[in-house]
Amino acid sequence: MYLQLQNLTKQFDNITAVNDMNVNIKKGELVSLLGPSGCGKTTTLKMIGGFLKPTRGKVILDGIDITNLEPEKRPITTVFQSYALFPHMNVQENVGYGLKYRKQYSKKAAREKVDEMLDMVGLKDFARQNVTKLSGGQQQRVAFARALILNPKVLLLDEPFSNLDAKLRVKMRNEIKELQKKIQITMIFVTHDQEEALSISDRIVIMNDGVIVQIGSPKDIYTNPKNQFVADFIGRVNTLKLGEKTLLIRPENIAITSEDTGHNGKIIQKQYMGPYTTYFIKIGEQTIQADISSITDEAWEIGESVNIKFM
Ligand SMILES: Nc1ncnc2c1ncn2[C@@H]1O[C@H](COP(=O)(O)OP(=O)(O)O)[C@@H](O)[C@H]1O
Ligand SMILES: [Mg+2]
Repeated sequence: MYLQLQNLTKQFDNITAVNDMNVNIKKGELVSLLGPSGCGKTTTLKMIGGFLKPTRGKVILDGIDITNLEPEKRPITTVFQSYALFPHMNVQENVGYGLKYRKQYSKKAAREKVDEMLDMVGLKDFARQNVTKLSGGQQQRVAFARALILNPKVLLLDEPFSNLDAKLRVKMRNEIKELQKKIQITMIFVTHDQEEALSISDRIVIMNDGVIVQIGSPKDIYTNPKNQFVADFIGRVNTLKLGEKTLLIRPENIAITSEDTGHNGKIIQKQYMGPYTTYFIKIGEQTIQADISSITDEAWEIGESVNIKFM
C-alpha cells in the first residue's frame, strides 16, 4: 500500500478528534473523507500533511514512516479551503513560488515548469494577472497549479470548493477528477458534501465522531450502507418498519402502482422536483417518500389510495 494510516489518533485535551483510524490508500487513488462538521476530517488531513502531531499512530508513505517529519520535508502538498494565494503576486509568481526553495531548478527550468502548469490548468493567458482579479474558479486553479508544481506524491484537499457557488463547484470537481486521472496523483479529498464525494471518489471513508464508520466505493456505500447513519448521511432513506423487520429503502427504489402488492398507502403530499416527483405516502402510522421519475410518472393525486412496490 502506498499511503497507510495506522491507528492514527489525535487527542485535544478532553476531545478525541480522531480515534484509531486505519486506512490503506493505493497509488493513484482518489479517496474522500466524508462526514459531518466536527467529525475529524481536517485533523486527519493535518496529521497526514504534518501540521499536527498524532497523539498515537503512524503515517507511512511509500514504505517510509513520515509521522514525525516536518510538513516541508514531506512529499505532500495541501490545498487549503481558503487557497492562501499571495495577493501581491501575479499568477505565475504564485504558481512558481515553491520552486524558489528547490535548488535543482535553474531560472529557465522553473519558468518552463510554471508554463507547463499554467497550461495544464488552462491559465496560460492569465500568467501576469494579479490573483485578486481572478474569479473563484480561476483562483482555485492557481492553487492547484501551485500545489502540483512541487510534484508531490500525495495531494491533500480540504473542502476546496466550499467558497464557490453550486454550479462552479460541479464544474471544478469535474476538472479536478480529470486532472487527477491525467497525472495519476494520489489524492485525499475532504468534503461534507455527499454528492461531491459520490461523484469523484474511487473510495469514500465515512467518518463520524472521530472514527471510521464505513469504507467503500461510492456504489458500495450508497447501495449497501452499513447502518442508519451512513444511509442517512449519503442520500435520503426511508426507515420502514414492517412487522418485526426494519427496512432501509431509498426513495428511488419505491414504485407506486394500482395493482395489489399487499402494501397499501395514501398519498398525503407531492413535490415536483423536475427529473422526478417526490410522493409522501402514509402507510399506517409511517410516512415514506417515493421518487417517481418524470418519464414514468402517472401523476398520482394527493388523497389517492395506492399500492407500493419495493424494487
Ligand atoms: N486545535 C484544536 N484544539 C482543540 N480542539 C480541536 C482543535 N482542532 C479541532 N478540534 C476539535 O476536534 C474535532 C474535529 O475537528 P475537525 O477535524 O476540524 O473536524 P472537521 O474537519 O471534520 O469539521 C472537533 O470537535 C473540533 O472542535
Ligand atoms: Mg474541516
